Amino acid sequence: MTRNERFSVDGDVVVITGSSQGIGKVTAEVLAADGANVVVSSRDQEKVDAVAEGINESDRPGEAIAVECDVRDRDAVEALMDATVEEFGRIDTLVNNAGASFMAGFDDISENGWKTIVDINLHGTFHCAQAAGERMQEQDGGGAIVNFASVAGTKGSPYMSHYGAAKAAVVNFTTTLAYEYAAHDIRVNCIAPGFVATPGVESQMGVSADNVERDTVKRRMGLSAEMADIVQFLASDASSYLVGETIEAKGLPAIEESHEV
Ligand SMILES: NC(=O)c1ccc[n+]([C@@H]2O[C@H](COP(=O)([O-])OP(=O)(O)OC[C@H]3O[C@@H](n4cnc5c(N)ncnc54)[C@H](OP(=O)(O)O)[C@@H]3O)[C@@H](O)[C@H]2O)c1
Repeated sequence: MTRNERFSVDGDVVVITGSSQGIGKVTAEVLAADGANVVVSSRDQEKVDAVAEGINESDRPGEAIAVECDVRDRDAVEALMDATVEEFGRIDTLVNNAGASFMAGFDDISENGWKTIVDINLHGTFHCAQAAGERMQEQDGGGAIVNFASVAGTKGSPYMSHYGAAKAAVVNFTTTLAYEYAAHDIRVNCIAPGFVATPGVESQMGVSADNVERDTVKRRMGLSAEMADIVQFLASDASSYLVGETIEAKGLPAIEESHEV
């Protein structure tokens, strides 16, 4: 294997939750361009059909299938993993990308609102990791799980107590599961993005490019393709000694001028 081949996901089977738009969609496109067979999935069959069709009609060598799945629904998650194995024979990588949030002061978050956000971001990750993990343990060669947290989970963030708590749990879950799954040759890692320009960040969090230009040393929001590159690295052999880690991809928050050296 050449050095470049170690970064390849050619021929791998990758399930990406929440891939009807944003980071998940671009990740499916980027990995398929490298030859991975991808399973595009979200709660909306029409939207994931369109993403899979776009991949299959392009010159990307990887194939795509689309499967509707709400990650909160264990039966639907089991059906997603079954459909993947039926179509492609195995699951090499699970990308636990599905996520959602809304901005609200802590006092204004209802119990239902809190539970919904924890359900999607944390329990969804649990369901998918357990269902994919079971199948990875039955196959030769193990696999990889890439979770999505957030800097709201690693650093905290105002008006995101529900989301931050759920994402912080995903960070811990990543390391804890990595210990347990190492024996099965399944590597578990995590990405904690800062602000990435996606439909979700604009509509759910009301974050504009202007805030981020001021607040990061990169002077811009991250791109979904830049997150997809990290997913590919974590899915590939190039990250074979990276286990249980959370990579913060946040463009480094700028320090205030008075503190600059
Ligand atoms: N963008 C950022 O700045 C940022 C920062 C930190 C962390 N993240 C994390 O990165 C991941 C992707 O973010 P994004 O900005 O690309 O998100 P996005 O644009 O809001 O897209 C979210 C995706 O998740 C799907 N989804 C939502 N609820 C779901 C559920 N219950 N079951 C299955 N799929 C569901 C949505 O599809 P449907 O609506 O079609 O179901 C959509 O495809 C998330 O985990 C997010 O928390 C993003």
